[in-house]
Amino acid sequence: MQQRNHSAAATPDLAAIRTALLAWFAAAGRDLPWRRTRDPYHIMVAEIMLQQTQVDRVIPKYHAFLAAFPTLAALAEAPTADVIRAWAGLGYNRRALNLQRAARAVLHEHGGQFPRDIPTLLKLPGIGRYTAGAIACFAFEQDVGFIDTNIRRVVQRLFAGPEEQGTSSEAQLLVLAEAAVPAGAGWAWNQGIMELGALICTANAPACWRCPVVGWCRAYAARRAADEQAFSLGAPAAVLAPARLRKVAERREAPYAGSNRFYRGRTVDTLRVLPAGQCMALGDLGRALKSDFAATDQLWLQALVDGLARDGLLVLEGDGVRLP
Ligand code: ADE
Repeated sequence: MQQRNHSAAATPDLAAIRTALLAWFAAAGRDLPWRRTRDPYHIMVAEIMLQQTQVDRVIPKYHAFLAAFPTLAALAEAPTADVIRAWAGLGYNRRALNLQRAARAVLHEHGGQFPRDIPTLLKLPGIGRYTAGAIACFAFEQDVGFIDTNIRRVVQRLFAGPEEQGTSSEAQLLVLAEAAVPAGAGWAWNQGIMELGALICTANAPACWRCPVVGWCRAYAARRAADEQAFSLGAPAAVLAPARLRKVAERREAPYAGSNRFYRGRTVDTLRVLPAGQCMALGDLGRALKSDFAATDQLWLQALVDGLARDGLLVLEGDGVRLP
């Protein structure tokens, strides 16, 4: 197991921050299904689902997906169309393909044994630095750092300062995130920091009065200092209220109707309901996508299905298309 002793270099503040956050997480952390397991296959499924979908929506899908594909081998050996069907409702269908590709690589290139270290995990198809770190930490309890949306925001505010005074680069934030991980408690620390970002240190309405680490937070201190200065100058406090200053587009929006992503999703949704292996003629697909589908839309439709076929989300067959 990869262990680094960060605590030797830790400042007294960092030691206090760790103690406070870990105590808060132990008391207030949610009981989520992927927090009850150390099975790397289950963790990989959860983490890929959670990348673009909210916890409440992931929970039933996580259970249903693992019921359909209970083992890594079951997922690796399933028809890809079944995996895409099981992904219905989660969006970003390419994640389903990546998940199956990673499962196949673990099965065929690693004899079914998940790699434990980040560099080897990173070589799996579709596994980026975040997912590799999350698997190393949440399945194998390694004391590693990694960054997702919530961790990025908490690390930025707590250790670097308010976003509106300039955000740190991804590389800088990763260094901060790694340095903060307490030796021997990486699992709880990373879950805790994510939980703080999800429940308290939210993008637009942080509940600083309930935050267990507010006493050490650089963003909070900077905002207090700015508020005090504004007050002494007689400026209205609301001008400096953080929620109004910050317009962070962090929430995942439904794809804009009419965008390429919107029609990609609708195409896969349309093909999902066909019986296994059945093709749909391009013209029928066009009319299913757009009620006013016309001859002038044919080039657009061809480009749309070509793009999906390139990504492996559908197969072109004669004049028709089907799930792979
Ligand atoms: N989002 C991404 N990973 C998560 C986790 N392990 N727990 C809660 N939310 C998450």
